[in-house]
Amino acid sequence: MTNILFAAGPALWAEYETALRTALDATGLDYRLVCEADPESVDYVVYAPASKLQDFTPYTRLKAVLNLWAGVEKITGNPTLTAPLARMVDEEGLTQGMVEYVTGHVLRHHLGMDAYISNPERAWRPVVPPLAGERPVGILGLGTLGLACAEALRGLGFPVTGWSRNPKTAPGITTLHGPDGLSGTLERAEILVLLLPDTPATRDLLDAERLAQLPRGAVIVNPGRGALIVDDALISALDSGQLAHATLDVFRTEPLPAEHPFWAHPKVTVTPHIASETRVPSASRVIAENIRRGEAGEPLLHLVDRDAGY
Ligand SMILES: NC(=O)c1ccc[n+]([C@@H]2O[C@H](COP(=O)([O-])OP(=O)(O)OC[C@H]3O[C@@H](n4cnc5c(N)ncnc54)[C@H](OP(=O)(O)O)[C@@H]3O)[C@@H](O)[C@H]2O)c1
Repeated sequence: MTNILFAAGPALWAEYETALRTALDATGLDYRLVCEADPESVDYVVYAPASKLQDFTPYTRLKAVLNLWAGVEKITGNPTLTAPLARMVDEEGLTQGMVEYVTGHVLRHHLGMDAYISNPERAWRPVVPPLAGERPVGILGLGTLGLACAEALRGLGFPVTGWSRNPKTAPGITTLHGPDGLSGTLERAEILVLLLPDTPATRDLLDAERLAQLPRGAVIVNPGRGALIVDDALISALDSGQLAHATLDVFRTEPLPAEHPFWAHPKVTVTPHIASETRVPSASRVIAENIRRGEAGEPLLHLVDRDAGY
């Protein structure tokens, strides 16, 4: 019997229970799925960042923690967790959703749609945008989500430069890495998309100096994590005209406090962390497949490198 504890909270339990059982049934495993259990009996924990479970010490036979979210910054540093930690990679749901969000917001800025969506003075002001091939896009983070977005944007004709920690190759995409590669990516990015995880190495990455490396009038789209950008530096860059706009989906504090200057800034679009949600049916299949693998002695998918923090 494989004991699975759903520790992601009652609201998500209501959403996930049926889909998880369906996905687990399909694996043929003999399992017990519960949302409360004697810690010593638990083989796998299904987890979400808001989970109350913080002390894994009593979970003596734990084989893995399976996160429902792609971002793991709230758990990766937990010293009581010694079992493997897997993050969510859900190509059908999460990845597709992010591709749609990023493509939509890049096209909005590329085409200058705002000028026509709201035009109360009925001004006939034609501004012909360049074609995609003349609009370089940079993507910081070329992992599951960044690469999928890079490929979609390249498919639309944008010249895409992607930046990662380790060297990468991707057909049709200029790939740069490491500290030197960052300047090269920033210098050419008229639209910059942030799809990095929140780690000690990426926190505050976009400070005043790095924002100044972007071409004047560049746009930022950040569905990665709020801590990647220094808020005050971003506002100064918007006010000075160094940046034309920032579309932000993630924030240092969420929900974004009502008094935060981002809300009222005319060059900021706030979306409430909806760039991409984990989708229940497909994410349940990912969780079930990892448990099947664990029980079959196969390597788990999507393991987090605890030292790197993602
Ligand atoms: N807003 C939303 O709704 C939403 C939804 C899902 C995810 N997210 C965010 O998106 C992030 C990315 O997700 P993912 O699944 O694509 O993650 P991933 O597959 O782990 O990719 C992370 C990418 O960032 C790069 N990276 C990490 N640290 C770096 C550093 N110090 N310097 C340069 N590059 C670095 C990695 O480089 P290597 O390739 O060399 O390892 C990799 O390319 C998540 O961590 C989460 O914060 C947001």
